[in-house]
Order: sequence, then C-alpha cells, then structure tokens
Amino acid sequence: MTRHSHGGPAPAPKTTGWVLHWPRFYDLLSRPGSFGRGTLVDLAAPTAGETVLDVGCGTGAVSFALEARMGEGRVHGIDASPEMIARASKKAKRRRSRAAFQVALAEAIPFPDGSFDLVTSSLMLHHLPDDVKRAAFTEIRRVLKPGGRFLALDMDVEGHSRLFHAFLHLRRPRGPAFYDKLAPMMSDAGLDQVEALPTAEKRLLFIRAIRPKQRGPTGNHELRLPTTETAPRRK
Ligand SMILES: C[S@@+](CC[C@H](N)C(=O)[O-])C[C@H]1O[C@@H](n2cnc3c(N)ncnc32)[C@H](O)[C@@H]1O
Repeated sequence: MTRHSHGGPAPAPKTTGWVLHWPRFYDLLSRPGSFGRGTLVDLAAPTAGETVLDVGCGTGAVSFALEARMGEGRVHGIDASPEMIARASKKAKRRRSRAAFQVALAEAIPFPDGSFDLVTSSLMLHHLPDDVKRAAFTEIRRVLKPGGRFLALDMDVEGHSRLFHAFLHLRRPRGPAFYDKLAPMMSDAGLDQVEALPTAEKRLLFIRAIRPKQRGPTGNHELRLPTTETAPRRK
C-alpha cells in the first residue's frame, strides 16, 4: 500500500491507464459539481455511517461531495497520480476533512475484500485500456461488501485515445455507446443488476451495479453470472 506523506509525492505505480500530472490546471478546468459529478453524488446516495471508496479520485471533487452528503461516514480516495493525490490530501487538511487519499491503482485496490458499502468512479473509466477496465471491475467487486453498490460516471461514447479527449472538450464525439462495452465487462467481473440510470445529462453515462448477495449451493461461494448475459440499457 502506498500512502502519501506530506514529505513529498509518493512514487507513481505503473499502469497503462492515462494518469494526469497537472492537478492545478485540472482544478481550473473543472468545477467540483460540473461534468455530472453532482448528479453522480445524488445517484450514489451515500448514507450516514457508510464506508465509501472513490476510485480515480483525482483532486477529490467527488470524494469531498460524498463526505459532505454523508455527514457521518468514511471516504477513501485512490488515484494513480501522486500529484493529484498530493493536492487532494492538501485540500483535505485545509477543509479538516476526514477523507483519506492514497496513491493506488484501480486494478490493484489496496483494501481487503468486502470493505465498502459504495464504490464510485467519476470520469475515470475512459482513461483505462480494456484489460485494465476488466481488472478494475474485478477489484471493485472484490472490495465491495455483498449487496454493496458501484456507481460510475463517464462519457456516453466509447473512447480512450488522447485525440478522443481533445475532441471531447471541443464537441460531442461520435462512436459506439460506452455502456455497451462496459456492461458485459462488469457482468463478467461478477457484478450484478448492471444498469444505465436515466438522467437529463445527455452526454454522460451513469452506470450502476451491485455486488450480489447470493451464495452458491455450498453456501461458500457466490453465484457467478453467465458471461453472455447482457444488462439492460435503461431501466
Ligand atoms: C478525468 S480524471 C477524473 C478525476 C476525478 N474522479 C474527477 O471526477 O474529477 C481521471 C483520473 O483517473 C486517474 N487514473 C488513470 N489511470 C488510473 C488507474 N489505473 N488507477 C487509478 N487512477 C487512474 C488519473 O490520474 C486521473 O486523476
């Protein structure tokens, strides 16, 4: 587990995801509730006393909003970028927030099985190549408590390249729906009840899934979902 100390940024772990290294500029570009992040917090509906993980937390915009919504409860944020985590930690200190930030990867989450009631990811999935997305979903399922929920916000269009990112900020890119790619990956990772939640935010995808509670016939193993199952697009 790599923890950030105030002595300087922790070393960057290796990932093939697109890691951001310019936290100040990032904060200038994106106000906390913008790009659907306020809606994500509404849909995630964290309640008092829950334990929450924000994966790819960046400078902590969603983590702090989740904490404010819960009142009582604990929020952890992880990100592959030492610079983003350093800024999130600095903000936490300034705000006297209990949110805890550390440098870590979505594909290697440094928490024990069944740790969280809620896992969120905001605008992070399109930063990950497909094999890393799959690994991240497996990890997210592992760290959720049985019955715990995963709520992700991302673009409604599939894309990973840097050109895609540039285009994203200029105009709406065209391409296959991101949901159609993500939903089977999430089901394959053992997440259940995968669904896209309808909102007024047309350019954005809000996707929710649950770690199943069911036990297999021996009572020791959870039931695996069939890999061919395709989750419904909208409820
Ligand atoms: C567009 S930012 C979103 C930040 C924040 N969630 C928000 O809504 O403002 C995507 C973040 O994903 C992080 N990231 C990229 N690859 C990652 C990985 N493999 N594991 C964890 N974080 C990763 C980047 O460093 C970046 O901070």
